[in-house]
Amino acid sequence: MKLIGPFSQILTLAHIDFKGSIPDQALEVVKNGGVLVSNGHILEVGNFDALRRENPLVEIEEIAHKSVLLPGFVDCHTHTCFAGSRAMDFAERNAGTSYLEIAEKGGGIWSTVSQTRNAIDEDLVTLTENRVNNFLKKGITTLEIKTGYGLSVEQEMRLLKIINTLKTRSTVASTCLAAHVKPRDYEGTASEYLIHLEENLLPKIKDLTNRIDIFTEKSAFGIAESTQYLQNALKLGFTITVHADQFTSGSSQMAVKLGALSADHLEASTDEDIKILSQSETVAVALPGASLGLGEPFTPARKLLDAGACLAIASDFNPGSAPMGDLLTQASIFATFQKLTTAEVFSGLTFRAAKALNLYDIGKIGTGYKADFQSYLTDDYREILYHQGQLKPCNVWKMGILI
Ligand code: NIG
Ligand code: FE
Repeated sequence: MKLIGPFSQILTLAHIDFKGSIPDQALEVVKNGGVLVSNGHILEVGNFDALRRENPLVEIEEIAHKSVLLPGFVDCHTHTCFAGSRAMDFAERNAGTSYLEIAEKGGGIWSTVSQTRNAIDEDLVTLTENRVNNFLKKGITTLEIKTGYGLSVEQEMRLLKIINTLKTRSTVASTCLAAHVKPRDYEGTASEYLIHLEENLLPKIKDLTNRIDIFTEKSAFGIAESTQYLQNALKLGFTITVHADQFTSGSSQMAVKLGALSADHLEASTDEDIKILSQSETVAVALPGASLGLGEPFTPARKLLDAGACLAIASDFNPGSAPMGDLLTQASIFATFQKLTTAEVFSGLTFRAAKALNLYDIGKIGTGYKADFQSYLTDDYREILYHQGQLKPCNVWKMGILI
């Protein structure tokens, strides 16, 4: 057992609901705070001096500088396992060719598939591990990583195994996105490819992941075939998530109907889609990094929150649409365009994002939660978003251990 502190402020995010808008007055700020930690979990949060008096023999991890403590961030949507670059796509898009046009010509996702298939395991492991460790330094203590750049039974299983064996202190949740696009070397239609995955991949990966994702969009998979694929995944016991309404509306409603954990992207969601999502338990995941990478509109987060949705914010880190990979910078910029309160942003980056991963013991600083947190060199939590990602965490703890 140890007592960590004192912190000028601890932002606990206690008493905030999973759904709906949040005024900043709802933020609980513990001044001169301390956290009592045992076995990687939080025993108690409160005034540092009082906790020290009540526990006179406890070991103290003393914080000498003024700082603000927050829960570690949860990045619930990334494509971190890939090789190569898509700098050529970025330049081409800015010169006027659209993301979908590049994909139709055989660039885009398919180009990363070729580069990833050509990389040996050792290189892919190193690339991915280094990226995850960089995220950890930026305060991301839990992240999701999708496959989706293998696109064959063998290659998708290889990527899942690589993701599952990464050696990093972060918690990594893997998701199978074999249904990213129909691979160019598959002879058959998109629906046939999905049936092939249902028969030959899904039954084999029950031990490797419990999450299945699909990109439902023009040039990827249609609503009817996606529905069938996801229903089969559900029957096999997987949880599901969907790349929904990125360019065309329709698939978020499918995600809700199927009880998906989350519907991610939503840049093209209509008012009707927003209403349906907001009345459901499906988490609406905004990916501002993809809007910034593609020059597309932002997800209508303000409308979603006002309608009562559970809004999470994730980086979508990937070599194509979202190469930046800086969640805090993206969330800060997103907040200025969508008029999101500090409470809404921090909730969307922590416990609300954890709900999209079906995790309920992370994302708040309170008794029973994992001791995953991060601190910033300031005595006012509002400085963090104000610096738009330029103020980085000075300390990060994973399961109570300072990294
Ligand atoms: O979430 N939209 C589909 N998938 C990714 C992009 C993947 C890529 O372009 O490599 C996304 O934006
Ligand atoms: Fe994505």
